[in-house]
Amino acid sequence: MSVEGLAGRTVLVTGGTRGIGRVLCEALAAHGARVAFTGRDPAAIADTEAALRARGPEPVALPLDLEAVDDAAPIAALLREHIGRLDALVLNAAIGGVRTPIVEQPEAEWRRLFQVNVHASRVLLAAAHPLLAASDAGRVVCVSTGVARRRKAGTGAYAVSKAAFDMMAGLYALDVAGTAIRCNIVNPGPTRTAMRAAAFPAEDPLTLKPPEALLPLLLGLCAPHCVLNGETIDADDWLAQRS
Ligand SMILES: NC(=O)c1ccc[n+]([C@@H]2O[C@H](COP(=O)([O-])OP(=O)(O)OC[C@H]3O[C@@H](n4cnc5c(N)ncnc54)[C@H](OP(=O)(O)O)[C@@H]3O)[C@@H](O)[C@H]2O)c1
Repeated sequence: MSVEGLAGRTVLVTGGTRGIGRVLCEALAAHGARVAFTGRDPAAIADTEAALRARGPEPVALPLDLEAVDDAAPIAALLREHIGRLDALVLNAAIGGVRTPIVEQPEAEWRRLFQVNVHASRVLLAAAHPLLAASDAGRVVCVSTGVARRRKAGTGAYAVSKAAFDMMAGLYALDVAGTAIRCNIVNPGPTRTAMRAAAFPAEDPLTLKPPEALLPLLLGLCAPHCVLNGETIDADDWLAQRS
């Protein structure tokens, strides 16, 4: 997959302050892309901004709590005002929540995961769509998980919300078929981040691939030459085929 052509593109990454999103933001900046990113933690936002500024074009930080995002119109206005144009959107931010049997998941937790993982992602997609449609090669990358499609006990609202997220992404890919927009889903597989460590505290993080391993795939899906649309790509399979 070609990562050529990212220089001069504008890319918005949700959850760009940590983990997979942060590493992707830095790589996009290093390839010459103008990076906009969302996050909540002010210190992490400032740190990300400084790191991106050192690597590439002036970044755009969008402090946004996805738990509070419920309307596309103000987000669309925010994007128009602060970014102006958009060539790629990476819906990466998500929360994992607690691992419990399905009927034991606290109601508020269930709804919080759906809010961040599904509702806010759809709001971002709807808000970004006009800008993506105005691009000559709008790209959407939806970062999902294997448990969205493979039943695994205890994964609760995380798995169910990500299954809804995948369907949303797949339907959007159908909606934009025949246009210049491409939308694809990535399952990163086990990756060395804070989310993974919280879900599997007994696991040795050094046994996991670092987020940097995902870059050839994620950058390629953001790039204007990407021809795939509506695909679900398992990153570990994809990486194994390349090795
Ligand atoms: N790591 C893995 O092994 C793995 C495996 C399968 C799938 N994934 C998927 O990969 C994606 C990235 O995961 P990760 O492991 O990199 O996670 P992470 O290290 O926990 O980072 C999550 C990012 O999302 C942001 N975020 C979380 N809640 C938010 C909220 N309410 N509002 C705004 N931003 C919020 C965080 O920023 P703030 O805290 O500053 O808000 C942070 O930048 C997720 O979609 C996850 O489901 C990861």
